[in-house]
This record gives sequence, C-alpha cells and structure tokens, in this order.
Amino acid sequence: MSGGRVGRDSGGMTTVRETQPVLTGARVRLRPWTADDAEAVFAACQDAEIQRWTTVPSPYSHDDAVGYVTRFAPQAWEQGDAVFAIVDPATGEPVGSIGAHGVRGGTANIGYWLAAAARGRGLARDALRTLARWCLREVGVARVELEVDPANTGSRRVAEAAGFTAEGTLRRRLVVRGRRIDVVMYSLLPDDAAATTL
Ligand SMILES: CC(C)(COP(=O)(O)OP(=O)(O)OC[C@H]1O[C@@H](n2cnc3c(N)ncnc32)[C@H](O)[C@@H]1OP(=O)(O)O)[C@@H](O)C(=O)NCCC(=O)NCCS
Repeated sequence: MSGGRVGRDSGGMTTVRETQPVLTGARVRLRPWTADDAEAVFAACQDAEIQRWTTVPSPYSHDDAVGYVTRFAPQAWEQGDAVFAIVDPATGEPVGSIGAHGVRGGTANIGYWLAAAARGRGLARDALRTLARWCLREVGVARVELEVDPANTGSRRVAEAAGFTAEGTLRRRLVVRGRRIDVVMYSLLPDDAAATTL
C-alpha cells in the first residue's frame, strides 16, 4: 500500500487530505479515477446487474460517465470520502469502482461494482479487503460497513469472503430507483479477527 498521507485529529477523524493514494492489493490496484476512464465506465455501466443492484443512473449515458470520473469522484475526495478505480494489474485497465463514504465521520460505508467481464476472479473481494484495510489502518475509521440487498447473493458472498459480519436486516433502509428496499447491514471493526488479516 502506498502514500497519500491523511492527518487525524484526536478523535481519529480525518482533518487534512493530500493526494488520493494508490492502494495495492493482492489481485487489484485501486487508483483515483481520471478523465480518460470515462469510456470504460460508460461501457461497464450498461450492464443489467450494475443497474439492478446499485444506484447508478438508468439508462446510463456517456455524460453520466464523464461526470462520475471528472466531478463525482474528485469531489468525493475533497469532501473526505474516497472513490477509486479498481484496476486489473495484468492489463492496467480499470475494471470496476469502489468507494467509501462517511469516512470523515468515522464510519466508512463502502459500495462497489465490477465490469461483467472481470467477475469471478476474486477481484471484488480483494478490492474490498484493500479499501477496508486502508480505511481501518491508514485513516483510522471506527467501523467499515456495507449495505446489501438481501437478494444480491453475489455481493453478500463478497462481503462474507472479505470477513464482514452480517449484523441484521434494516427494513426499507434505502431507496433504489424509487423503491424502498431492505438491506443486510455488514460491518468490519478494527478489533474483529478478520481485520487483523486484511
Ligand atoms: C457482486 C460483484 C461485485 C462480485 O464481483 P466479483 O469480482 O465477481 O466477486 P469475486 O470474484 O471477488 O467473488 C468473491 C466471492 O463471492 C462469490 N460470488 C461472486 N459473485 C457471486 C454470485 N453472483 N453468486 C454467488 N457467489 C458469488 C465468489 O464465488 C467468491 O466466493 P469464494 O470467496 O467462496 O471464492 C459483481 O458481480 C457486481 O459488480 N455485481 C453488480 C453490482 C453489485 O451488485 N454491486 C454491489 C452492490 S451492494
């Protein structure tokens, strides 16, 4: 894992942000999004699974992709959150997105998607472990959490494979495409056994 110093106040919260770092996992690299990535985001977000399980716009336009990489992701960093491109080191190409929100408040709420062609190789699990490790060890958040639709078997499996604990179901917690859905709340705490092996 490399660089990107993050200052903390006495409560462990982020106070100073420098350049967004590049994080190195066992199977992926996480780096800031750049304008050159818009085409890859546009292509990936046409996928029905990403449109079904995440809050990306649907239909997903080229302007949505440009806005994501040039405005949403850089602004997230400025505001204390962190949104990364998931890169396959074998090709150097971006194959997914993973972001942590609420970091400044001490709870990192993570969301992710993988392009269809990149699935089934453990990349989401490694991206999640890599970002969770950075949140817990470098930023010093008290809690990392994921909110997953109970029917999203793949994402639930990713959460469990990364060592997260299912805490229970929050009823009608999220609005996805105008519909309120239940979510399974997963968490990983710094003192969980799984956090020590990230
Ligand atoms: C869910 C998603 C991120 C999984 O990505 P992935 O890179 O294929 O996942 P991984 O290869 O890291 O899989 C990790 C584990 O989950 C399992 N898994 C992944 N997708 C699965 C599926 N659809 N059904 C059952 N198990 C699945 C894998 O077999 C693996 O299990 P293992 O640890 O026992 O070997 C991807 O399918 C996706 O982007 N879906 C659409 C968007 C989405 O759902 N985002 C999450 C919103 S909460």
